Amino acid sequence: MKEQERLQELRREIAEHDHRYYVLDDPLIADAEYDALMRELQEIEAAHPEWITPDSPSQRVAGAPSGELAEVRHAVPMLSLANAFDDDEVAAFNRRVHDSLTASALVAENDSVIYAAEVKLDGLAISLRYVDGVLQQAATRGDGQTGEDVTANVRTIRSVPLRLRTAVPGVLEVRGEVLLFRSDFEALNAAQADRGQKLFVNPRNAAAGSLRQLDSRITAQRPLRFFAYGWGQVDHFPPEVEHHSTMLGWLAEQGLPVEDSLTTVSGLEGMLEFHRNISERRHDLPYDIDGVVYKVNSLAAQRQLGFVSRAPRFALAHKFPAEEAHTELLDIEVQVGRTGAMTPVARLKPVFVGGVTVTNATLHNEDEVRRKDVRIGDTVVVRRAGDVIPEVVAPVLDKRPHNAREFVMPTSCPVCGSRIERIEGESVARCSGGLYCAAQRKQALTHAAGRRALDIDGLGEKLVDQLVERGRVRTLADIFTLTVNELAELERMGEKSATNLVQAIDRARRPGLGRFLFALGIRHVGEATARDLAAHFGSMEKLMNASQDDLMAVPDVGPAVAEAVVQFLQEPHNREVIQAMLEEHGVEPQPEAVRPQATALAGKTFVLTGTLPNFTRDEAAQRIVAAGGKVTGSVSKKTSYVVAGADPGSKLTRAETLGVPVLDEQGLRQLLGEN
Ligand code: IVH
Repeated sequence: MKEQERLQELRREIAEHDHRYYVLDDPLIADAEYDALMRELQEIEAAHPEWITPDSPSQRVAGAPSGELAEVRHAVPMLSLANAFDDDEVAAFNRRVHDSLTASALVAENDSVIYAAEVKLDGLAISLRYVDGVLQQAATRGDGQTGEDVTANVRTIRSVPLRLRTAVPGVLEVRGEVLLFRSDFEALNAAQADRGQKLFVNPRNAAAGSLRQLDSRITAQRPLRFFAYGWGQVDHFPPEVEHHSTMLGWLAEQGLPVEDSLTTVSGLEGMLEFHRNISERRHDLPYDIDGVVYKVNSLAAQRQLGFVSRAPRFALAHKFPAEEAHTELLDIEVQVGRTGAMTPVARLKPVFVGGVTVTNATLHNEDEVRRKDVRIGDTVVVRRAGDVIPEVVAPVLDKRPHNAREFVMPTSCPVCGSRIERIEGESVARCSGGLYCAAQRKQALTHAAGRRALDIDGLGEKLVDQLVERGRVRTLADIFTLTVNELAELERMGEKSATNLVQAIDRARRPGLGRFLFALGIRHVGEATARDLAAHFGSMEKLMNASQDDLMAVPDVGPAVAEAVVQFLQEPHNREVIQAMLEEHGVEPQPEAVRPQATALAGKTFVLTGTLPNFTRDEAAQRIVAAGGKVTGSVSKKTSYVVAGADPGSKLTRAETLGVPVLDEQGLRQLLGEN
């Protein structure tokens, strides 16, 4: 084959693999094979620089930085959307549209309006200008009339085709959103932190910063994504296309990425159902969205409805409650955790965010406070996404008062007065009081009684607080000496609940060895490690006599875990408590069934939805991971199984649509080799 033909073939092949990888999420070849193709292309181009064209896949990253971003006047203005924040506003919009379209006989009086329904992507609007099927220019929205030329940067976005799949004649302007996946944003921020550089507040800001870079070599290192949701100037409109949804389908055929949730809905009911459905799945999507968008699907009807000031009359954004808000940071206090970790907690002026009023938010640790540079008195960005605990994201520097105070970690524990230590190389400061510290004792006991440990139903935080404060319970062993009479006298307890609790304590005398170990709260020993240790040693006695080397013989147990276990079990006080349980209080940990091979589920990806009869979702996830599988949040073609319990969410529907096998708890247990 002639070299020039091979060159064309390589370009076509690489563009096809880019499309499969970045748009369809369905790669055909391994990275190494792809790299080999790219190398071959680059070698030919190096030998024949005169053959290089801008649409070659080798030409995504430009060389030197440009001076500043040039202005671009949009051929067709980039508009914004009218917003609705509740169902009534959506109903009013639908009524207006319906009335207007029946008046012009585009919809019959008794028919519902059909809308294209999309997610509202929380990124930046962009316009891509293709001329004869080749990407010529990319511009930001700017003020809607004039934006900035970000062509060099957009060329680095691998899901943006440099050449369309068919040679669409004349100008085709594609409009859509540039964004970062949350996972990519987190990785980017972690890398920024490693380099001691400023953190981005959220994926949207990171995407904006990346898109407006002057040096496109930096943009190339930021894995930006693009999704098309509309168009501007179109010289040759596909004649058979009469609907918004089919136009997006046509754009997808040209190789442009279109977001998966796009669908059509009928009337108000359909709109609200779509909104409910997406808001439930919102946090399973890999990117941030801030609502949904409805667009009258018929293009003829869109033309009829027209525009009002700077927004179309045929479209509406139905927003979700904001997940970020600004408020005042009143103080930073420290909380003592189970292992003595001191967590700085922000006390906030109450603020409504993510659907609830937030007054406290975690600041994780001392370094985090420094890195974020939040000071007492600052106005801060608070974020609460879904069920995730609220966090302080960043200060609003413009609003910093002159007397804002830096946080200083106390030198002694606010609960027990012991010294606070911070081991070099660790990010966490700890109270050195150990179980002498009431705060640590309470949490150690609550942990031990928890569902995943000894599972003592009825022994929650409030009761533990009372028992510790009265000095009745000092150690885990003391729990096994509690009597109905004394429990019945405590606040919010009666004869019946005391009896139930004593029975639950009795049942906890025969825990699985793994659960028992987990209950002890040894540092670094999570549920999975506890189970591994139990399976390996088989009895408490053997484990208590194990050396660090014996421990390291257990698969997945490294030196840090081994050291923590030996230290804990050699500590005289801990030995005393364990011996009291085993020898005086009739506690008999039971050997565990042998676990499946840690590779049984290797390479398999699971998504969990709904409530399982006997596992929490956390437990199910841990077992899957322990057996070598992976658990992810959203269902795709590549998901191996969806495990569904009662009241499953839309993930089940999605699994069924995509033909992903669905298991119940029994099915999962079988895969795990449990029966
Ligand atoms: S349509 C003529 N569709 O929302 C209307 N916009 O407030 C043009 N956005 O600047 C926009 N997802 O950045 C449309 N599915 C979607 C969208 C979307 C996000 C953004 C876009 C626009 C803003 C409008």
